[in-house]
Amino acid sequence: MRNSIREIIKKREEKAAIGDEESFGGDYLGLVLKARHDSNDEKRISVDEMVDECKTIYFAGHETTNTVLAWTVFFWHSTLIVKRKQERRQNPNPGGIAKLKTVSTIINESLRLYPPVVSIERKVNREVRLEKLIVPANVEVAFPTLAIQHEPEFWGQDVQLFKPDRFVQGVAKATNNSIAAFLPFATGP
Ligand code: HEM
Repeated sequence: MRNSIREIIKKREEKAAIGDEESFGGDYLGLVLKARHDSNDEKRISVDEMVDECKTIYFAGHETTNTVLAWTVFFWHSTLIVKRKQERRQNPNPGGIAKLKTVSTIINESLRLYPPVVSIERKVNREVRLEKLIVPANVEVAFPTLAIQHEPEFWGQDVQLFKPDRFVQGVAKATNNSIAAFLPFATGP
């Protein structure tokens, strides 16, 4: 991973050096390279930081979106095959905007069944009470998103089924009022 990122960086640096481009470029890689070559010592980032930034955006931004889109398109296709048997295809029209709601329920159901980030970890800095549970300092806690999103207590006995309609009335309704049971993007900072 490191080597391929370094290769990509090298190519961009060479392009900039022979004047092919005015600067390193206006895209994300260009901005990271600009920070690497900053004339101000205090602002300049290290090679490791530059590679880490690229890795973060690739995995945090690309892999996640890619995975959820793949599952959504897959499920969407299956849903449409079923629906097409019931209704004739229509040309796009203003009334179709209302159908975007259906799209978001399909995306949510994909994020529930196949969350791109399957678990979230946190280190506890100081002793903390979570209802009946007292967690001592320095313990590492894992929140298994994948398991929580497949828990019948929150989602019902049909938890294993692809049922986008469970989201029609929002997350609270879908989770039996346990909104933290839906955490594909975690629950905030
Ligand atoms: C469907 C798409 C995505 C999902 C499911 C997703 C999921 C998550 C989750 C669960 C976290 C929290 C991780 C944690 O707190 O331990 C997170 C953090 C983060 N995500 Fe995403 N993400 C998505 C798209 C993106 C995109 C498109 C970007 C950037 C272009 C991005 C950048 C980040 C970054 C930088 C963090 C770390 C934030 C921090 O330092 O606290 N993510 N994401």
